[in-house]
Formats: sequence, C-alpha cells, structure tokens
Amino acid sequence: MIIYNEQAKTYTLHSKNTTYQMKVWDYGVLLHTYYGPRLRDGDLSCLLRRKDRGFSPNPNEAGGSRTFSLDTFPQEYSTCGVGDYRLPSIELELPSGSRTADLRYVGGEVRRGKYGLEGLPAFHGSAEEWETLSIVLRDAAARVEVELLYGVLEEYDLITRAVRVKNVGGEPVRLCRCASLCLDFIRSDLDLITFNGAHVMERCPSRAPLRPGIQSVDSVRGASSHQHNPFVILCDRDAGEEHGLCYGAMLLYSGNFQAAAEADQFENARLVMGLNPYQFAWTLEPGGAFTAPEAAMVCSPWGFGPMSRQFHRAIRKSLIRDPWADRRKPVLINHWEATEARFTADRLAEIAQEAAALDLELFVMDDGWFGARDDDNAGLGDWFVNEEKLPGGLGALVERVKALGMSFGIWIEPEMVNEDSELYRAHPDWILNVPGRRPSRGRNQLVLDFSRQDVREHIYTQIKTVLSSADISYVKWDMNRSLTEVWSPALPANRQGEVYHRYVLGVYEFAERLHRDFPHILIEGCCGGGGRFDGGMLYYTPQIWCSDNTDAIDRLRIQYGTSFCYPVSTMGAHVSAVPNGTTGRLTPMETRGVVAMHGTFGYEMDLSRCTPEEKEVVRRQVARFKAHYDLIQDGDYYRLSDPFRDGPYTAWEHVSRDKREALVSLVTGPFRGAPPFLSLRVRGLDPALRYRVNGGEIYGGDALMAAGYPLPMFSGDYQSMQLHLTAVDA
Ligand code: DGJ
Repeated sequence: MIIYNEQAKTYTLHSKNTTYQMKVWDYGVLLHTYYGPRLRDGDLSCLLRRKDRGFSPNPNEAGGSRTFSLDTFPQEYSTCGVGDYRLPSIELELPSGSRTADLRYVGGEVRRGKYGLEGLPAFHGSAEEWETLSIVLRDAAARVEVELLYGVLEEYDLITRAVRVKNVGGEPVRLCRCASLCLDFIRSDLDLITFNGAHVMERCPSRAPLRPGIQSVDSVRGASSHQHNPFVILCDRDAGEEHGLCYGAMLLYSGNFQAAAEADQFENARLVMGLNPYQFAWTLEPGGAFTAPEAAMVCSPWGFGPMSRQFHRAIRKSLIRDPWADRRKPVLINHWEATEARFTADRLAEIAQEAAALDLELFVMDDGWFGARDDDNAGLGDWFVNEEKLPGGLGALVERVKALGMSFGIWIEPEMVNEDSELYRAHPDWILNVPGRRPSRGRNQLVLDFSRQDVREHIYTQIKTVLSSADISYVKWDMNRSLTEVWSPALPANRQGEVYHRYVLGVYEFAERLHRDFPHILIEGCCGGGGRFDGGMLYYTPQIWCSDNTDAIDRLRIQYGTSFCYPVSTMGAHVSAVPNGTTGRLTPMETRGVVAMHGTFGYEMDLSRCTPEEKEVVRRQVARFKAHYDLIQDGDYYRLSDPFRDGPYTAWEHVSRDKREALVSLVTGPFRGAPPFLSLRVRGLDPALRYRVNGGEIYGGDALMAAGYPLPMFSGDYQSMQLHLTAVDA
C-alpha cells in the first residue's frame, strides 16, 4: 500500500511487514525518513533534527538560516556538488563543464501495477500484486528531470527502484553517474555483508562493521563478475539467521556495477547501488532519456533467513518469466567434464544412453559442436554444426537422444570469437578494441562488440538457424572472459563512455529475442560458472550455472553464499566425477547428490564409468529429487549452519508452505577422532505438529526445533544424510 499524505507531504510505502517513507521537506528537497519494520501511518520526520553543523553548507534559499544542510539530512536520492559531501547518486556534466546535480521535488503519482523498463530486466506481475510510485524531481539549472520509480510487492516485502533521467532543456547533458538506489540510515552501527570470490569460488560472504568512510564492492569487468556479486546486506551488528534487522539490496544488472556504503561524520550511513561510474558517461540529447537498471530491496526485522525467503519467493514468482516460473525443469546430464570439446556423436550418444537408463531427462551437448572447435583455441563465432563430429547434422543426434526418451540441449557462447574462426577472418573489426592497441586475449578469445546491432544480428541469425533446425529444449549461454579494450567504432569519441552499458543492453536484447522466438526453450545462464549470476540475467535465464567448481565441499560454501539472495531453483548444480577436476578431492557419490539437490540438479560426468553400486546410487538420487521436486524448488529454504565456520557439518532445509513436509540435508566435514554426539536443530516447522522422519520414528515439531534431531555417528570424511519429515497430525 502506498499512501501520500498531502498535509505532511509524506509518501509511505507499506509492505506486509515493512514500511518505507520519504518526505518533501524545505525547499522541495526529498528526504528519506524511515525504512524498517511495519508501522502505522505517521510522519517519521520527527527523527530528523535541525542543527547548524560546521562545514555543512546551507542551500541558498535558506537565506540566513543555518540549520538545514543537504550534508546532514538523509536524502532520498543524493545529489552532487551542491552541499552533500557523501556518496552521490547522480552526477551531470552540463554544457558549461560543471559536474553538479541539484534535485527538487516536482510531483508524484501512485498507481496500481508495476512499472516496466524498456530494454532492461525488471520484476513484473499483476495490478493486484503490485503498486507503483513515481516521483519527479527536477534540476532547474541543468534542465534535467529525474523520475524515481518504486514498485511495492506487498506480499513479499519487496520494494523495487529504478530511475529515469530526462533532458528537458535545449542542450546536450552528460550523465556521469546514475545510481538505482540510495538508502540513507540515521545510524551507522551496521554491518556490511558482501558476496565475493573468484572463478571457481564465487559468492563467499564477507561481513564487517561499517567504519567511517566509504566501503564498496564493484565490477569493472563488463559482467557482474565472479569477484563481487551485485547483492549486499546491511544489518544490525548482532543480526543472525533468525534475529536482527537486516536490509538486502540486489541490482538487476549484468555489467559494471558499484555497491558502496558510507558511514559519515555524524554516524549516519548511506548505501548507493547502481551502474559503476567507472568509464561511464551517457550523452542525453535534448528530449533524450536514460533509464538506470532496477534495484530491489527486502527489509527483514527477523534476520537473514526471512529476508532470503522473501527474495526467493519474489524472484521465483515475479522475476522468472513464464513459462519457467511454474514449469518443472528437467534433470540433466552434461558431458563437459567427461569429454570437454573432443567428442564424437557416438560418444555423446553413449553418455546419453547411460543417463537415460538412470532416468535422467535432458541431454546437454556442451562446447565443441560447431565450427573447427576441438579445444578452446578455435571456432567461436562459427555457429554452424561441425558435421565431421556430428555426421548427418544436429538433427540426427537429436533424434538419437530423443529415441532414448530424453530431450536435447545445446551450448552457445554468442558474445565471443576466436581469431581462428571464419567469423573473425571475415570481420576482424567486429570486436571490442581500442584503435592503435592490440586486443588482450582471455581464454584465447576476443569479445564481440555486442553494443552493435549489426554484430548481434549476424550472430542471432546463425544461432536462430541452429535452434530452429532441430527439436532443442534447452540452451546453455556461456561467457568466458572479462572485457578489455572497451571501445566501439559505432560511437563517436565523446560517446565511448556508453559502450560498457550498451554492451549489456545488447546482451539483454539478444536474450529477449531468444526468449520471444523460443519461449519453450529453457536457457541456463553461465559465465565460466557464476561470473554473471545476477538478477538481470535471471529475468532471461531462469537458472544459472552456479560455478565451474563442482566439488561438493566447495559447493556447500558457494551455494550457501548464493542462497542469501537467489533461490535454489535458480542455481545450476550437478554431480561430477571424483577426484574432482578443480580440487582433486574425493567425496562419496551420495554426498555429491545431496549437494547437487541444493540446486537444479543434474550430472556432469560419464555415467558409464560408474560402478553398478554407484549407478544404483544415481538411480535412487534421481528418484528422490523427482519425488521432492516441489519441496526443493518451491519450498521455503532455511540455512541451518554456516559452512564457513568449520563446524562438524553443513545443513539446510526445504519446508513446504503449509509446514507439513520438510527435507533436511546435511553433509559432514573431514572426520576427526573422538567425535561428539551431535544433534541438529531444524527450523520452520509447526511446533504443534508431530513429524515422521524418513517413514519411521515420530518427533514433535517443537522438539525438533528446540532440542534437535539426534544425528547418527558418521564415520569417514564428507558423509551425508537427508531426512524427509512428514506431519502425522491432521
Ligand atoms: C565454462 C562453463 O562454465 C563450463 O561448464 C563449460 O560449458 C565450458 N565453459 C565450455 O567451454
């Protein structure tokens, strides 16, 4: 519910459990007054105090009054160079060369439904579920209007934000910074949690108290990156899974981003999140407009668990698009870790045959099927079937796989090109490169200039032809390097600051075409694993390969970190062979299956190499995953332990919405002598119900949550266990 109080000049956004408020204040400055647990209606500006503070200037309109400064009051969307010295949200380069921005309130409008963003991913849904607030601010001197957009998804406590900037004057203006979210707090005793890592070790949480000054994470790699995820949390210093106030903020963007938090001189805090201003400058011609990507926030008064569950529900229901919001996704087999790019059609058919016999549903042909591709040195850009490898073409292999009762999927990497390719030989000028420089290689490949429509058109036509040529129901869209030498011949010198963002817009346009032309195809995003795991890509690709690291024990950490924002149904997770290719670690097949069930579930190995006993384990795993599909993919998710704390086990749980069913999963660490007797306290059950565990003994929900379930004595490293709980009371 969004309420405008004309007398108090407050806009109050209520969701089920939270309230957010802003107020038009002196001189039309829009201040932020509150975000936190749900309140009754009221004007929270009583929290803002007027005081003359040294070195905090006053707006000219204040005349001799010295108690109002942009520098001391919480701003709804911070300005630049006109008296607020904290993190700016917007920066304009005016024809005079000045780089300032000063915004004053013009008006606001509340309407039912959710705003959309042309060419950008955004949460969506019906007019019953959503309400929109649009606030217009204006910089009179710059002749620029800024529209702040807010969407409220009441049921899931989700507040989305986006920003449109319009040049309403007669001269071009350059936008040098345009954040999507600015969130001010009248306190700074907060912890900042960010999700960081590297290729093969993504999204590991890092938590630290805010200290005076700016702390930030970002990407300048052209993709949202393995190194830092565009999702952060600010929280009470003692907040935990089930207690404490916390604020999660995600950016729906797949390119350069920045998330910065600042604790200021008066112990207030500000979070600013959006496009990274690094090498960014967008020219707004008279009448021109720019839209910043969407951000989304969830505030939870009860810790991280409830915050994550609200993000999960909102992402599953209102970000993932039809048909995949509700459609069951297949259990897949991918041959990449078994063969890499060197394979024959017979070899693939053999792998598929084994998988079909073990009830897997989708065979994915990974990298290596096109052009002259036998390794990662050649072929990218030549999206036509290598008939030496696949005699009779794609159709012949697809039919062989379909005859096994499986559907067929295929790998692509549309944004890239190898120098050793027909495409590069014909169009060496289609890559991102700076005149006079030689382009850096990454994985021996170059990046196509996806900011260019003609380049995208060529690649799209090729890929469309392939996808239309056979019965294909899944695509894995990969992207295997970071951007360098970002320069495009399609833009004049003074507009090169647009290329990074135009590249991402090009990726989104390409993805949108795929979605539109092949709505039945499930697209799995991938960027060398999880280098582009963000809310932007999830709008187009309902699942994303979580990491190239398939080691079950490392995956416990990667998937744990990922789960703070993103639901299990979006995390590509597969069982692979041991010793693991990345870590060399040995883990039991059973454990690998339990860990991959914390995701979309599938296999990434040659199942014909398995022993009969291992195959039996696979058969049982597949059956178990299918039996619990709805619970795992659509249930409420609980983290039961923190794998970064080196406890004796890592555990998590899926609970049905009616709390009558739950699946608890647990993986132990390395074995140690004289182990203690352990129990596991579960969460989210109905304390008044009794539950049967794995079809046997009955325990009270209250006892399972307060006292715990007595764990067996495990022996050996990395053992696992799953408990299926079903309510026995009516
Ligand atoms: C990186 C991906 O993450 C892998 O799963 C695989 O698809 C390779 N690329 C193929 O080149």
